[in-house]
Amino acid sequence: MIHFIMKFKQLQYIIITSLILLVTSCNFSNQKKTVSNKPDNIEARVDSVFQLMTLDEKIGQMNQYNGFWEITGPVPKEGQAAMKYENLKKGLVGSMLNVKGAKEVYALQKIAVEETRLGIPLLFGFDVIHGYKTISPIPLAEAASWDIEAIQKSAEIAAEEAAAVGINWTFAPMVDISRDARWGRVMEGAGEDPYLGSKIAEARIKGFQGTDLTSKKTVLACAKHFAGYGFAESGRDYNTVDVSEATLQNIILPPFKASVDVGVKTFMNSFNELNGVPATGNNYLQREILKKEWQFDGFIVSDWGSINEMIAHGYAKDSKEAAEIAINAGSDMDMESYAYIDHLKILIKEGKVEEKQIDDAVKRILRVKFELGLFDDPYKYCDEVYEEATVGKKEFHEGVLDIAKKSIVLLKNENKLLPLPKSGKKIALIGALASDKTSPLGSWRIGADDESAISVLEGMKQYKDNQLVYAKGTDVAIGRTQFMWETKINETDSSGFNEAITIAKQADIVVMVLGEHGLQSGEGRSRTDLGLPGLQQQLLEAVYKVNKNIVLVLNNGRPLAIPWAKENIPSILEAWHLGTQSGNAIAEVLYGDYNPSGKLPMTFPKSVGQVPIYYNYKNTGRPTMNEPESVFWSHYIDEENTPLFAFGFGLSYSKFQYSNLKLDKTSVTNNEKIKVTITLKNNSSLKGKEVVQLYIRDLVASVTRPVKELKDFKMVELAANETKEITFLIDEKMLAFYSGNSKWETEPGGFKVFIGGSSDKTLESNFKFVKK
Ligand code: BGC
Repeated sequence: MIHFIMKFKQLQYIIITSLILLVTSCNFSNQKKTVSNKPDNIEARVDSVFQLMTLDEKIGQMNQYNGFWEITGPVPKEGQAAMKYENLKKGLVGSMLNVKGAKEVYALQKIAVEETRLGIPLLFGFDVIHGYKTISPIPLAEAASWDIEAIQKSAEIAAEEAAAVGINWTFAPMVDISRDARWGRVMEGAGEDPYLGSKIAEARIKGFQGTDLTSKKTVLACAKHFAGYGFAESGRDYNTVDVSEATLQNIILPPFKASVDVGVKTFMNSFNELNGVPATGNNYLQREILKKEWQFDGFIVSDWGSINEMIAHGYAKDSKEAAEIAINAGSDMDMESYAYIDHLKILIKEGKVEEKQIDDAVKRILRVKFELGLFDDPYKYCDEVYEEATVGKKEFHEGVLDIAKKSIVLLKNENKLLPLPKSGKKIALIGALASDKTSPLGSWRIGADDESAISVLEGMKQYKDNQLVYAKGTDVAIGRTQFMWETKINETDSSGFNEAITIAKQADIVVMVLGEHGLQSGEGRSRTDLGLPGLQQQLLEAVYKVNKNIVLVLNNGRPLAIPWAKENIPSILEAWHLGTQSGNAIAEVLYGDYNPSGKLPMTFPKSVGQVPIYYNYKNTGRPTMNEPESVFWSHYIDEENTPLFAFGFGLSYSKFQYSNLKLDKTSVTNNEKIKVTITLKNNSSLKGKEVVQLYIRDLVASVTRPVKELKDFKMVELAANETKEITFLIDEKMLAFYSGNSKWETEPGGFKVFIGGSSDKTLESNFKFVKK
């Protein structure tokens, strides 16, 4: 989310900050011994600390404060810095967020460990969404790689770098499924599909948490936002969510369930209401499903101020009632509402909250602290020498470059305009985003400095045997508002058009980098227009008039509706916001040093009016026109139903051909598997990678099922002209869904299987499931 730094505004923070650093700048040697770090058994260790705690100290563990340096949400309380500092010293804080740097973390940890009665160490949370200082592609872009190993590696890099600056808990991955490109936070997730989303959730969690949480290179992960946040009505952030139980179970919850199964240690609930009940006060979600049914043994943190936001929702009359609702519904830690610390004690006295709810929450939090090894070494993340040697390591840059290349999706390539010839050409590079060194970092960039990304201009300059000329054409974003890192769109200044047109006229090939600035997607950045912001569409058309050999490189944090470009521009490369190594990755793909292999994780609409548009839609009772010119079928009179670019779509410089779909049997029962094969041929002289996708349709069921659902995929590499047989296995589990009987089950009957390189282009066959 926005990192609006308010250093200037909040003088008191600066004073307190200096005080903390001053008081704690002595060395580690006079460290007080923390309690109970002997027994091996974590539960026994948790109990040994727990038994010593007063009620106030227990409630303190459930209290999370923002740090003294940066903030990522509205400031709820005046005079908070002094009060936070006092509470910290009294042992009434369990965690801080937005504190970074080994020195700053050490300063606060030292207070918790050495000045409080029990010396319980703090958790330090931060939004390490796609890297700390060495920024990887935005999560939506990484999802486009469909490369689970590379995604896990990217999270490993983020964890190692973040841990080196004192952070021990990332508020990631965001596993919200979304079908609405207007929602600014689609950039932060894995797109629209629950299966792909689950695989990516698992990979990211494994990457962050590793196999050893006590290692110096791993951090706690946090599956967020539980639940339904991505289904905000009309794509407007924080808006109402109203979905059926079937949609909740079949679409929204699977990545959360996968997160629990892979061992995620924390969850964050969400700002939205779900079917009338705010997620933060939602007993069904948090206690029934997450803690009881899924047996989650970590803890749930609220979203920023979301406990108190239940007042605005009209669900709690004041902060005290909000605290009561939230704890009773299973929210374990309060992020920046000050509701638990202010009201839980009195709520217990009044009998509105049972002490056992507090005990459960506190044990969950302590357990995670033990698992992280904090009681054994609370300062393991506070080593300034290690920090210096680790942040921005060369290997990190190599890693983020690798995933950046893999995230790029080739959307169109007519006349073989791409890859670009490496010599003898005059290339005009146009677009403000082509030289922008900040935008590729996206809106979550924590430790990255402005201007620290490689621009496309810099990336392309390395290919020296062509003549490269650059013109901005038009600015996308103009300036930032005073306190928020927010951009305004340039709607008026076209003074750079002429220069762009002049260089385009003289060029053999034009590369135009257009799209959204990195700060035009993310939290609080919903859009109603999905076209190219500002004057960029006009610029594109003006350049096209003088030179049609255009390669359009898109930079964006969400699907865009760009039908004119699809119709007219010969080559289009989807390059998202790719992080620190952005320009190098794009240049390598433009010049064919990397053969693109990405596939869209989210449907691109033809117009905003089609949104929400997604591949796994339901058929309806009137899916097609059954007589000429009829209007009585499910359609628009001014737009087709089909998307601009479908989920799963993406080209390569190689040419892949699918044929020969075969099933080894046409009927299966429980515990059996069907073997499905296809033949994949690389019909080109270039080695390349293809993501082969398997979809299934349940033809008749107790609740209607989507026309297609992704159930498996394989990344296959083929040498020039190579042919391979690709095999999948279909089992009963893949056919299960949340049925009309309100449970997960597989119903007997007919199914279709589809295999292809995109959700809208598949070979298909039929089979039956017979229940034993
Ligand atoms: C966002 C969360 C984030 C939190 C802390 C909230 O506004 O919704 O995703 O983790 O701020 O920065």
